[in-house]
Amino acid sequence: MSQAPASMDHLWLPFTANRHFLQQPRVMVQADGMHFTTQAGQQVLDGISSLWCVVAGHNRAPINQAITQQLKTLDYATAFQVGNDRAFEAADRIAALAPGDLNKVLFCSSGSEAADTAIKLALAYHRARGQGHRQVFIGRERGYHGVGLGGMSLGGIPGNRKVFGAAMMSRVDHMRFIHDPVNHAYIHGELPQWSEDPLLELEQRILPLHDPSNVAAIFVEPIAGSAGWYIPPKGYLQRLRQICDKHGILLVFDEVITGFGRMGTPFAANYFDVTPDMLTFAKGVTNGVIPLGGVICRDGIHAALMNTDAPQHAIEFAHGYTYSGHPVACAAAVASMDLLAEENLFQRAADSGVLLGKAVHAAMRGLPGVVGIRTLGLAAAVELAADPTAPGQKAYNIFLDCLAHGVLVRSAGDNLVLAPAYVVSESQIAQMVDTLAASIKRHA
Ligand SMILES: Cc1ncc(COP(=O)(O)O)c(C=O)c1O
Repeated sequence: MSQAPASMDHLWLPFTANRHFLQQPRVMVQADGMHFTTQAGQQVLDGISSLWCVVAGHNRAPINQAITQQLKTLDYATAFQVGNDRAFEAADRIAALAPGDLNKVLFCSSGSEAADTAIKLALAYHRARGQGHRQVFIGRERGYHGVGLGGMSLGGIPGNRKVFGAAMMSRVDHMRFIHDPVNHAYIHGELPQWSEDPLLELEQRILPLHDPSNVAAIFVEPIAGSAGWYIPPKGYLQRLRQICDKHGILLVFDEVITGFGRMGTPFAANYFDVTPDMLTFAKGVTNGVIPLGGVICRDGIHAALMNTDAPQHAIEFAHGYTYSGHPVACAAAVASMDLLAEENLFQRAADSGVLLGKAVHAAMRGLPGVVGIRTLGLAAAVELAADPTAPGQKAYNIFLDCLAHGVLVRSAGDNLVLAPAYVVSESQIAQMVDTLAASIKRHA
């Protein structure tokens, strides 16, 4: 087994309470299947597929072998003005999985880069069609599109924006959040029905304010994942699609969490039967093993940018990353998609999601301090009563306590989230649910 780090003096951890971490280090040194081993030798059940990434479980031999083989064959090739065979193959496979005419794939290495790429694509697309005035972007309160300057600007989680004012894109607005904490506190495997229309605000206030003809794109996560698995009302995404169509606005789904099977379908776009104009992905595409992200665009977006009088040697879209379509990442993606298909893992996610939903509602409804439970697909959020004097503190303490009891859960604000790998067993679901319920009771 690996040794504990000799020093913790130099690493600055991302999205982490670093000072507290050093008092109570949590260091993983090994992973296999559904479990980590910590530096202290403890076995920890990964209840969140390592932040929605490791969808087929850890240490999967076919993915590891594909990576090793690729390293020996073509370790890397520059991405600019030269292609590599694996990137073409991965793009073909992703396009085949994506719904409708979402057929053109631009690669990057993360969900944040994917969001910023989609923002730039929207601007370039409108300009190519003589509508360069379309520069307003609309996100949603409590949305998360990563930490790039564009994705942060469209995102709506207050803590992620608070100190970065000057870096924010200027022409951005946000739709209201999609959750009704009173009438839809408890959602069990189905979409909430709203008596009022949450998109009236978009139609009657936000779009007229900017004039729809100036709006480039609307970005949403089909299900708000990072904020704590908040589920859209029935018909919401369909109506958003209609509004975008009516005004020539691009609709972008951020599927960094929901892509590659979390809803039991390839993408949430399939689950909700709504095809966006662009779809961003990352995480599960390689089972989290190697960084890879990207944007899938409809044919028309690609065609608009290719339809140019510029000379043949001109670059049509001045954007890309050194690691766009990295052959090793793309080999991992192809192997992951093979594995998802061979083991029928989308269906398994759907089936495990039903079990998780039942278990979470049965164990946690009525526990002290629990004010909501939302389950859909293979994910569940348990919401605790907010304490204005210490926001998020109790959920963080419960996350630490669950880890001490051998289960990794995620705290997101006042929510505790479970989102295991699709290969999770019924007894592992029981273990994570029982551990979380016991911890919530201890913190009552
Ligand atoms: C919906 C969504 N978009 C974007 C991102 C950012 O992805 P990354 O951390 O790979 O940049 C995340 C990460 O959790 C996410 O959940």
